Amino acid sequence: MTRPPPSFPIAEVDELVTIRDLLRYTVSAMTRQGTFFGHGFPDAMTEAAYLLGWGLDLPPGSVHDFLDARVTAAEREHLVEMLRRRIDDRVPAPYITREAWLGEHRFYVDERALVPRSFLADLLANSLSPWIPSPEEIGTVLDLCTGSGCLAVLAAFAFPNARGDAVDISPDALAVAERNVAEYGLEDRVHPLHSDLFAELGGRTYDVILCNPPYVDDAAMRSLPDEYRREPALALAGGQDGLDTIRRLLAEAANHLHADGVLVTEVGHDRPALERAYPETPFTWLSTHAGDDFVFLLAREQLPGRSR
Ligand SMILES: C[S@@+](CC[C@H](N)C(=O)[O-])C[C@H]1O[C@@H](n2cnc3c(N)ncnc32)[C@H](O)[C@@H]1O
Repeated sequence: MTRPPPSFPIAEVDELVTIRDLLRYTVSAMTRQGTFFGHGFPDAMTEAAYLLGWGLDLPPGSVHDFLDARVTAAEREHLVEMLRRRIDDRVPAPYITREAWLGEHRFYVDERALVPRSFLADLLANSLSPWIPSPEEIGTVLDLCTGSGCLAVLAAFAFPNARGDAVDISPDALAVAERNVAEYGLEDRVHPLHSDLFAELGGRTYDVILCNPPYVDDAAMRSLPDEYRREPALALAGGQDGLDTIRRLLAEAANHLHADGVLVTEVGHDRPALERAYPETPFTWLSTHAGDDFVFLLAREQLPGRSR
């Protein structure tokens, strides 16, 4: 297979003098190379501005104040090297900058964990209102499939009196989660734990179980843009219909929820498959910025196999 031409040909790099020049050229290069945007930035302009600001150590969001500033030769070399990794090597921006933002919250991230972008973050920003009427009464939370630990950290802010566990099967991901929990000073309240779903949790029960499981079905896995192939496949692949982990979750969650507990789960594009597989289950679909089909909530007594 022939490789596309490099995004920043050596002969042209020296002609880029100002930040505006670099921004314009980066947007053009991303457009020419078909860069895929799925890791926190909606388009080339937004992502290019973020990367240039980060690469020049400018305060977040301030790059537009410096557009006519010239860069030094050393800065340009450093920026072009970074942009080649993003555009030619298809490395998602958060793996380059080692950070991802969910609202106001910054999380450390590297290739050991999925880049944080869960729709559950929207809902936690609002403490799962109105579904959880008194967030201060939540005492225990489980973040299953925690990855970077981002949702466990956001849950600690959403439910100020809660303690909880942050579970992942990947020791690599858990190392990233531990770092984020420590960076937020939450070691007393959020406990990263190695487990295959509930296997190591014994008889522990929770008020809220959050889960953003791997849910990409086999066909979608085969056609993933290269940027997603930089992430751990374990974080994405959900089996033939995407529901492998979700089926196990639905079968076991009731054993780990308090009587009035709730399960809140992200399912990507699997809503139709899920509703076909569980026609009797009264899923409540929660609104996120992307739509109403991506996250369900079930009370314990609504879980499959529970009497109603
Ligand atoms: C979609 S990622 C979610 C990460 C994080 N919660 C987020 O929202 O960014 C799914 C995570 O589930 C973990 N995982 C996959 N299978 C698992 C299992 N059987 N038990 C526990 N964790 C699992 C993966 O290692 C990965 O970190």
